[in-house]
Amino acid sequence: MERSFQDLIAYIEQKTAFKCQSYKTKPLKRRIMVRMRALGLSDFSQYHTYLENNETEFSKLVDVLTINLSYFFRNPETFEYLQSSIFPQLKKGRVLTFWSAGCARGEEPYSLAIVAAETGVLDSVTIYGTDIDMSVLRKAEAAIYPQSVLQYVPKAIVNKYFESTDNGFRVKQELRSHVHFINVNLFETPSFGPCDLIVCRNVFIYLDRQAQSLVLHNFYDKLKPGGYLMIGKVELLLGIPEAKLFEIVHRTEHIYKKIEAPQH
Ligand SMILES: C[S@@+](CC[C@H](N)C(=O)[O-])C[C@H]1O[C@@H](n2cnc3c(N)ncnc32)[C@H](O)[C@@H]1O
Repeated sequence: MERSFQDLIAYIEQKTAFKCQSYKTKPLKRRIMVRMRALGLSDFSQYHTYLENNETEFSKLVDVLTINLSYFFRNPETFEYLQSSIFPQLKKGRVLTFWSAGCARGEEPYSLAIVAAETGVLDSVTIYGTDIDMSVLRKAEAAIYPQSVLQYVPKAIVNKYFESTDNGFRVKQELRSHVHFINVNLFETPSFGPCDLIVCRNVFIYLDRQAQSLVLHNFYDKLKPGGYLMIGKVELLLGIPEAKLFEIVHRTEHIYKKIEAPQH
């Protein structure tokens, strides 16, 4: 029986936590086709049948759908701006909560921890790294990385915050103790918060407009008044009604601030 692409994504949603309907169709199709090519299958209906008969294929599919690529200090100029202009404004001694939403293997939340250490606020900071993909969260907790994801990290910082192990570079305990990883789907509200800073980069771009709107609304609710939101360098809040709830702090670094609700 010939089945459609819509049938396939309904089946994937039924069997996994990945909400295909909330993602843009073109990139979603491209990612699914990566698996189809690997299996030598030429249409979505054939792949649907393959999934029905091969339970183990789901984890490989989720792996390509989630696109876990990340680096420490990805877009180094963004982290330089955080370090020089945003972190010094965060009040020392006050409890600070950061959220890296879609944190992959932890490269982004640990980068935030390094900036917090370098600006003298680490002791007050708790950082939550969340992702839909459990397998990357386990790696994030282990905190051992190959040289390739450290390409943007200055040598002095590597020496200061990582220890060399047989398997790669491990983030030191003094940073790890401030970073917690939780399996949270972006479309749900996590239990921690409120946050001083939410970083959500290179996830937004894959979501359709309605999902972006929902996620932005959740971020607004989770931020403290005046809290910061940072999205990816290639991402925009254009055309999303909830964007009105934020003012632009830095146009090229894509940093925003929650507008405080007017006092009545
Ligand atoms: C390309 S990585 C970005 C990692 C990091 N933020 C960066 O910019 O380097 C995107 C991550 O978002 C996660 N992700 C995708 N959809 C998600 C969802 N609905 N909820 C939570 N995480 C999600 C993926 O599993 C993946 O690890």
